[in-house]
Amino acid sequence: MNVQKSVTGTSEDIVYLDHAATSWPKPPAVLEAVHYALAHESANPGRGSHRMAVQASRTLLKARQQLARLLDVRNPVDIAFTANTTVALNMAIFGYVRAGDHVVATMTEHNSVWRPLEALKRSMGVEVTYVPVNAKGQLELHEVEQAFTARTRLLICNHSSNLLGSILPVAELAQLAHRHGARILLDIAQSAGHIPVKLQEWEIDMAAFPGHKGLLGPQGTGGLYIAPDLDLTPWLYGGTGSQSEEANQPSVRPDRYEPGTPNTPGIAGLAAGVQYVLQQGIEAIAAHEQQLVIRLINGLSDINGLRILGPAAGEPRTGIVSFVMEQQDPAQIAFILDRQYGIAVRAGMHCTPLAHRIAGTLATGAVRTSVGYGTTEQHIDHLLEAVQFIQRTANV
Ligand SMILES: Cc1ncc(COP(=O)(O)O)c(C=O)c1O
Repeated sequence: MNVQKSVTGTSEDIVYLDHAATSWPKPPAVLEAVHYALAHESANPGRGSHRMAVQASRTLLKARQQLARLLDVRNPVDIAFTANTTVALNMAIFGYVRAGDHVVATMTEHNSVWRPLEALKRSMGVEVTYVPVNAKGQLELHEVEQAFTARTRLLICNHSSNLLGSILPVAELAQLAHRHGARILLDIAQSAGHIPVKLQEWEIDMAAFPGHKGLLGPQGTGGLYIAPDLDLTPWLYGGTGSQSEEANQPSVRPDRYEPGTPNTPGIAGLAAGVQYVLQQGIEAIAAHEQQLVIRLINGLSDINGLRILGPAAGEPRTGIVSFVMEQQDPAQIAFILDRQYGIAVRAGMHCTPLAHRIAGTLATGAVRTSVGYGTTEQHIDHLLEAVQFIQRTANV
C-alpha cells in the first residue's frame, strides 16, 4: 500500500505507533476538509434555512452516508454523532439498561464500558457478569451462553481488545444474545477503519465508534449506531432545531440523539477520513496492517525475555501488539523509545485493567504498539532495532 506520499509531512520525524489511541497523521484531505468547513460552512446545521446552514447540514449528511457505507448501515439517520466512543457507549448503556437488568460483558472491556456498568451496579442494582477470556483474549461461546439469565437484556463486547488485539466472534455473539431475547452493544473503537465491520449483516443492535482512530477524523468525533427498531431513552435533552414547540425530545432521528450544536468542522474532517478509507478499501488497509503485525511479531519473538500479549502469530488479531520485558518497566521502555528513537508508543494500563488481569500484567502494565494506514515496514524495523538495543543494554 503506497501511503507514504499521501500522509502529511511533519516538522519532526516521529515514528508514530500509537494508532490505537488516536490516528496520526491524518490524510491531507482531512485537514483540508476541517479548514474548508471552518472557513466556508460553519453555520449551524439544522437550525436555519440560509445557504451556509444548508451546506453545513449537507456536510453532516455526507459524513453519515459515508459511515453507513463503510459500516454496513442501511439508513444513515441511524447513526448519531458524538464526541468520541466513550460518549457513544454511555449513551447506549444509560439509554438502554433499566433497574434490575442483568448485563453480560467480557473481561477485555475498556473502562468506557466497565465504569458505566459499575456505576449502574451501584446506583440501580444492575447485575453484571464479566465473561472470562483466555490469556490471548479469546472467549468460548458456551461460557458466554452460561452467563445469560432470564433477566439479561444486554450483551456488551468489544470487537477487538485495545490491549491484546484479539478479535471476538461478534456475529455469533449477536445471534447468541438474540436467542436469549437480549440486545448486543458492540464497541468498535479498535476495528472501525482497520478491519471490515458489517453491522447490518451481523445484526448488531448498537455500535459505538471513534471518529479519530481508524476512521482518520479529528479528535472530538465519534458516533453511535442504533438499530431502527430500538428506541433508546435519550441521554441528553435539548435544542435540535426541529419540533421546537414540543416539550418532548423529538422522536425523529438523528435529532433525537443529537441535541446541541454539533462539531461540524470535525465531522467534515471525519467524512474526509472515511472517504479515504473507502477509497483505499478496508480489505487493503486490513491486509497492509496485518502484514506489518506479522513482521513485528516475528521480530519481537526473537528477543530474549520479551513476552508478546494476545493471540499467537497467525491467529486473527488487529494492528495492536503489546509486550512486556523481563526487568524492564514499560514506562521506561516507552520513554527511551520516544526520547532516543523518536518512536511514539503507549505504556501503562491503556484504560483496560480487566484485560491486564487476564494477561497477568495488572501490576506492571505493558508497552502497546499499534500500527495504522501510514505505518511502513521501515517503521517496524526501526522499532525492532530499538527494542533489541534496549534488551541488550538492560542485560549488561
Ligand atoms: C476498546 C475501546 N473502547 C473505548 C475507547 C474509548 O475511546 P474514545 O477515546 O474515543 O472515547 C477506546 C480508546 O482507546 C478503546 O480502545
